[in-house]
Amino acid sequence: MRTSETVGESIVAPTSLKVDGARLWQSLMELAKIGATPKGGVRRLALTDLDRQGRDLVVGWLRDAGATIEIDGAGNIFATRRGRDDTSRVVLTGSHVDTQPSGGKFDGNYGVLAGLEVLRTLNDASIVTKKPVGVAIWTNEEGTRFIPTMGGSGAFARVFTLDYLLGQRDIDGISFGEALHRIGYAGSAPVGERAVDAYFEAHIEQGPILEREDKVIGVVTGALGQRWYDCSWTGQDAHAGPTPMEARHDALRGASRMVEAVNAVALKHAPDGRATVGFMQVKPNSRNVIPGQVAMSIDVRHPDDEALAAMDRELREAAAVIARDLRLECDVRQVVEFPASHFDDECVSSVDRAAEMLGLSRRKIVSGAAHDAVYLSRVAPTSMIFVPCKDGISHNEIEDARPEHLEAGANVLLHAVLARAGI
Ligand code: GLV
Ligand code: MN
Ligand code: MN
Repeated sequence: MRTSETVGESIVAPTSLKVDGARLWQSLMELAKIGATPKGGVRRLALTDLDRQGRDLVVGWLRDAGATIEIDGAGNIFATRRGRDDTSRVVLTGSHVDTQPSGGKFDGNYGVLAGLEVLRTLNDASIVTKKPVGVAIWTNEEGTRFIPTMGGSGAFARVFTLDYLLGQRDIDGISFGEALHRIGYAGSAPVGERAVDAYFEAHIEQGPILEREDKVIGVVTGALGQRWYDCSWTGQDAHAGPTPMEARHDALRGASRMVEAVNAVALKHAPDGRATVGFMQVKPNSRNVIPGQVAMSIDVRHPDDEALAAMDRELREAAAVIARDLRLECDVRQVVEFPASHFDDECVSSVDRAAEMLGLSRRKIVSGAAHDAVYLSRVAPTSMIFVPCKDGISHNEIEDARPEHLEAGANVLLHAVLARAGI
């Protein structure tokens, strides 16, 4: 990496080039007003009016930064800043602006706005890169309103078809395609035909490691593999009073035992295995009716694909035993699956070198969370940059991160992008 010189029309030495941390923070706080919750978090579910408002705001900022905006059929937004060689593949960054129902201000939003800050910084320094530099906003990363998680980036990487994605329904029966049209973000650009030179995504860690070890930057080498399931329990609705205990077919009992079984499977695969039941729907959900139907989610994660397959077997066995014991029917249907990801060595080194050049403490880290980078890594060399978040808490309204860490991560992003895009 060059150390200091005048480049092209730029009067700023590249190694001393820095993002404006205050401007990044201000943008984060401005975007966080859309869907703001009383405890300081954000509720901005994918493809809702609030998602549209968030997208509109950021697209306006990206346009003001001189980027060309294109939207594809999955609602993914691509903002491109021209390079000297526009035939070259784009060096892409980005993340998502949809949030969890009780989400925070930084998950996803940080990666998008760090990308915007990179464009603004290049503009301020009048730097024209050789390759174009782009910022992507991927649709429905969270997978909370619509399955699958990382819907937009998954369609982009052709992990599943656009038709499959558009046909997915939320809990009220509204399809992804209907919701996308309704907010005006069903674009005409083809999904997945964009040639990407490399993808770098900045994100808060969402776990405790960086904070615990007092490191500013996580150089992300990959992510856990995951499997998600829809698990349904069918018994029989019956009266809570007259129905003897031994005569019941209580679907909620089955689901309750399954919650314990899911946790036991993860504990058996400790310390790397993770398994969670985060969603449950009890029917008819009446105080004096024995529940005849329960739908629940299961989310299983592990860095080792064989261990993940073993967890799958153990879960299914546990469900069969519970169903037999309680005289219930149980269906376990896998709805998401991706193996552990291993990011590109050169992109990982590039993040590491940028952090070193900036004098930032760092460590290699594997992501416990899913990110759009997981699917991008299938179609382009990819890596990620993590910064600490307070107490490792995320997917929570109280999610917090220090402005100086967010600024440091954006500086690493800037220099990883610059090194790749060339000047
Ligand atoms: C995405 O937020 C995930 O589930 O890790
Ligand atoms: Mn995220
Ligand atoms: Mn998330």
